[in-house]
Amino acid sequence: MSAQKKKATVFRCSSCGHEEAKWLGRCPSCGEWNTLREAAASVSAARAAGTAERYSLPLSAVDPAEGSRFSSGMAEVDRVLGGGVMKGSSVLVGGEPGIGKSTLLLQVAARAEVSGRVLYVSGEESAPQIRLRADRLGLSREGLEILCSGDLELVLDSLQKLKPRAVVIDSLQTLRSEEAGSVPGTVNQVKYCALALSEWAKESGSAVFLVAHVTKEGAIAGPKAAEHMVDAVLYFEQTDGELRFLRATKNRFGSTDEVGLFTMTETGLAEVADPSRLFLTRRDGGLPPGAAVAPLWEGSRCLLAEIQALTVPAKASLTRVYSDRVDAGRVARIAAVLERHAGLRFSDQDIYVNVAGGMRIAEPGADLAVAAALYSARSGLALPDRTAVAGELSLAGEVRPVRRMRARVRACGALGYSEVLGPPPEAGEAEPGWSGAATVLEAIRRLFGPRTASKTPRPVPEGEDARPPSAARAAGKGGTE
Ligand code: TYD
Ligand code: MG
Repeated sequence: MSAQKKKATVFRCSSCGHEEAKWLGRCPSCGEWNTLREAAASVSAARAAGTAERYSLPLSAVDPAEGSRFSSGMAEVDRVLGGGVMKGSSVLVGGEPGIGKSTLLLQVAARAEVSGRVLYVSGEESAPQIRLRADRLGLSREGLEILCSGDLELVLDSLQKLKPRAVVIDSLQTLRSEEAGSVPGTVNQVKYCALALSEWAKESGSAVFLVAHVTKEGAIAGPKAAEHMVDAVLYFEQTDGELRFLRATKNRFGSTDEVGLFTMTETGLAEVADPSRLFLTRRDGGLPPGAAVAPLWEGSRCLLAEIQALTVPAKASLTRVYSDRVDAGRVARIAAVLERHAGLRFSDQDIYVNVAGGMRIAEPGADLAVAAALYSARSGLALPDRTAVAGELSLAGEVRPVRRMRARVRACGALGYSEVLGPPPEAGEAEPGWSGAATVLEAIRRLFGPRTASKTPRPVPEGEDARPPSAARAAGKGGTE
């Protein structure tokens, strides 16, 4: 885009495309507030000048290199973004205060593999504080500029002058524009600033990272307010343990199922390149009753996770499921399938389910492992050593196929799990170490012995539930027998 063309400016509504000669707080066409942005070389100007490429151009004439990516300098960030940072894109990074957003983005600012300047804008810390942090993390870079300001107009001005190839704004909530009211952090301000910066990114071909704190309900707007204005939304979150997850909830240029894994060290965020055994518990003997290992897909990686279950006689007249790592409704459904199809009663039990390492599991392929952990917890029988479990369960008690089962079996093999019990392999699908079970009953018998389960409800093993059935019925928790 030439400099002359840039001079012909109008104010264009980002919502409906309406154009005005001067700035207005509200678009007269669609009625949206604060959507009018100064735009270079407008559509009408292009129309007047007869430059038809403003409307369309042959696909073959598009230079593919123009939309290419660069590495953020951190493989885990690249992975979540779908293979690097897209030039001209805007990326929102949300997370609770203290999770490590500033650390992560200072590392990205210093390491991004892009030639030219990088600008780190902070409205939260002073320049000496940032310098101290950078020194402590051993970060430096030719062309890394710091701007400590919360003034959007000043930031945009600096962007025009410096023309950085990558920009970090820390944070969106400390940024304000004269044109969107006087208080920073309001929904209006957050939206306005996010839009202005993502438009700058598009026009300049540079990448913009916007930090946004997740806030408790209140006067300050959270990242949700800006999600529509950006190309990608990443959330940084922590488990019970030391592990931090970076997940995409929106990604215009890639999938949203990749997860970046980090740990916080004295020298900043360290990447976890091979997380396959991260969610396993190290122990000398075999698994204790109530634990089952499942191979699960997280994006393009197969992780082994240990699912732990505990059942205790219900204390209240209503039984409850306590599970926040696996959806509680799903645990209840699996317990019901076991009760109905493997004959072990859960309806008078409180059920606790957890995942070692605090990973959250949404993958349907974990069903059978949850069932195995529940059965093991309820019966007091441990799963066989070096055996992992994968498969989806239908309400009819069938073990359903899961995607990429052979790769799961191989991933388990690599970590010393010589057998994986799952759905029966289809013709030509067999893999050494893969054993199949068509139903949950068959799976339970394979894992715990042929006489352990039956179709019809049977008394639980000795010592598991001291109360006679009549007492359970009297308490209003009677089964269906
Ligand atoms: P920070 O990046 O400031 O979090 P956010 O910007 O999301 O609020 O860092 C959060 C915490 O990480 C802070 O409490 C200190 C800690 N930390 C380390 O443990 N090691 C380090 O090298 C750095 C920079 C921070
Ligand atoms: Mg911060």
